[in-house]
Amino acid sequence: MTDTLDIKITKTQNSRLAQTDFSNLPFGRIFTDHMLVADYADGEWKNFEIVPYGEIGLSPAISSLHYGQAFFEGLKAYKHADGKVTVFRPEKNGARFNKSAERLCMPELPVEMFISSIDALVDMERDWIPTSPGHSLYIRPVMFAADPFLGVSPSKTYKFVVLTCPVGPYFTKPLRVKFETHYTRAAEGGFGYAKAAGNYGGSMLPFKKAAEEGFDQIIWTDAKEHLYAEEMGAANVMFVLDGKLITPSTRDTILDGVTRDTVLALARHWGVEVEERRVSIAEIVEGAKTSKLTDAFGAGTAATIAPVGAFHYDGVDYTLSDPSTREFSQKVLKTLDAIRYGNAEDAFGWNHPV
Ligand code: PLP
Ligand code: COI
Repeated sequence: MTDTLDIKITKTQNSRLAQTDFSNLPFGRIFTDHMLVADYADGEWKNFEIVPYGEIGLSPAISSLHYGQAFFEGLKAYKHADGKVTVFRPEKNGARFNKSAERLCMPELPVEMFISSIDALVDMERDWIPTSPGHSLYIRPVMFAADPFLGVSPSKTYKFVVLTCPVGPYFTKPLRVKFETHYTRAAEGGFGYAKAAGNYGGSMLPFKKAAEEGFDQIIWTDAKEHLYAEEMGAANVMFVLDGKLITPSTRDTILDGVTRDTVLALARHWGVEVEERRVSIAEIVEGAKTSKLTDAFGAGTAATIAPVGAFHYDGVDYTLSDPSTREFSQKVLKTLDAIRYGNAEDAFGWNHPV
């Protein structure tokens, strides 16, 4: 549905589709033939264009490079068996895009423009959408400051770009994770709730150190005491403890995940008791010791439902049950896949048709 937006289209003369190995799709490395670009200047969004994927010329003085006035989104398109293409809950990402924009002093992009841009690009790239289980088209909208100006003040011009990548599962095995008690992802009053580029830049050293220690992921903890779980890498974190689904409540240190919201909606629909609240490491450790912790996983667009196989805290490793035997996360994964690939009724209206 591109009727609300005038988008100029220039098709590539050199499609890479036929040379792409769809049996090997490392996350985020293979880009489709086209991308969408738009400009913000004089107080309005304009020049929406779909062009061949490639480099764009920019001044090295843009404040997105120097001061991090940049943020992004992540969502996915799925192809159903009958060839229909849907994007999962793009209105949620569109709303969050604007929450990030506000926090970084950047202009809003009306949600209809966000969705129309994605629809137009995904529609052009529908042959790139992989159909094997766990595969989809990852959609990466990004906005960044474009003024060539070194003063620390908001840019007056911005770029909006949407990239698309055919992807398989981000994680392929249960994760060995540690509670991070030294580094902090986000502090109160900061911008952890925004999908700001800087949040991810700051996570790379802690990830690198954790990987050197043999961990696949970090569970971030609160900045003040490092006693409460916040998020897991670039995903929200969820636990089933004593039969209840518990997850940290959203606040300014936590990204309000679309997958998180989706899992909570399914759980409530199934009559599972849900608690959104602070989750202490102590209760997770106690739950692992007493076998009351029956599930633990990350929930995110790239991560999908990523089971925690084992976690580490204060020098001790806690191994959890075999993820394939876990009732809750297996049911979520199956149900979500069935809805997204069009094999089950979309009772919540989550699939946005392209
Ligand atoms: N938390 C962080 C820090 C993330 O980067 C992501 C990924 O987008 C999530 C949570 C999960 O959010 P969503 O389910 O909307 O992808
Ligand atoms: C997503 O799940 O869309 C993310 O943003 C994760 C990404 C940083 C790889």
